[in-house]
Amino acid sequence: MAKIEIIRGDITRLNVDAIVNAANRSLLGGGGVDGAIHRAAGPQLLEACELLNGCNTGDAKITPGFRLPSKYVIHTVGPVWKDGKFHEKELLASCYRQSLRIAYQNNIKNIAFPNISTGVYGFPKQEAASIAIETVQNFLSDHPEIDKVIFCCFDDENFSIYNRLISNNIVIKRVISKQEIQIVADLASIIWNEYYIPIIGQEQVDYMVRTFQSSEVVEKQINNEGYEYYLIEYLSKPSGYISIKLKGKELFLSKFYVVKEKRGTGLGTAGLKFVIDRAKELNAKAITLTVNKYNINSIKAYNKMGFKNTGSIVTDIGAGFVMDDYTMSYEL
Ligand code: APR
Repeated sequence: MAKIEIIRGDITRLNVDAIVNAANRSLLGGGGVDGAIHRAAGPQLLEACELLNGCNTGDAKITPGFRLPSKYVIHTVGPVWKDGKFHEKELLASCYRQSLRIAYQNNIKNIAFPNISTGVYGFPKQEAASIAIETVQNFLSDHPEIDKVIFCCFDDENFSIYNRLISNNIVIKRVISKQEIQIVADLASIIWNEYYIPIIGQEQVDYMVRTFQSSEVVEKQINNEGYEYYLIEYLSKPSGYISIKLKGKELFLSKFYVVKEKRGTGLGTAGLKFVIDRAKELNAKAITLTVNKYNINSIKAYNKMGFKNTGSIVTDIGAGFVMDDYTMSYEL
């Protein structure tokens, strides 16, 4: 499979076969990377774009690079981020896939992408990076003819996000569709049985999985109660999940689980770093959580990541069961 590189820099200076432009539907130039590419390519680029008759969101079109060091520019139009329910994820994936399809058709061997939609269009960077990496890796696994794909990051934040995700083959993606919700519910049942039977017994585990992590409950939490769920995939295999909810200036880490077989592989660290970055994106002042008093390994992991014990709480969860937890907090 082709080599994927993450660099920090200005895409207009890259000597590659093609650079991708994060354009708008008119293809007639704009700010951000679009403006930089048109300035560096010179006025002939605009003349060439005027003949293309625009471009739909998620689609891509190719022109020469003119004064740019790259031979071609592939113009793609990313989605404007609204709330994740207007097919933004699929449209962003389509930008990467369509750009690579055009590169493949034009026998382009190396191509550089900016962080599409994460500037003016406001797409959350963590998730955009996961979509970009996953889409490119999937395309490259079917198209060995492409030698190299460069993710050209212009800001430090994107640069650190891409490096963390690509280095561990970890993709962390927002749960939106019913299919993804079902994957979370299935994972919850596996994980809760793995971890909690020795602590609270089968009967309480069965009650909790049914009451708190069925696909209906997860869907209701996402659609009506302001929860964000994320799947953690390792080499494309669902291996854990995260559930968070912003409560005022605190981000409550409601659920954070990794399958037992993947403990100690860096998934937990990557997942927690993801939560910390998401908390910063949401301008939270702290991350709070509760953890079962007898879940020693998780308590140790949270302490290692900088969470402090802030107290304890006993919660009646119904059917005569209680959860006996510590409360913990991570100050941002
Ligand atoms: N090289 C590489 N990346 C760059 C450069 C550059 N010279 N300049 C900006 N970027 C980065 C931004 O930091 C951001 O991470 O490109 C990414 C995409 O940001 P935008 O350029 O704002 O693109 P996008 O969010 O997709 O919004 C597209 O902005 O410029 C207009 O005409 C464009 O209307 C369209 C909209």
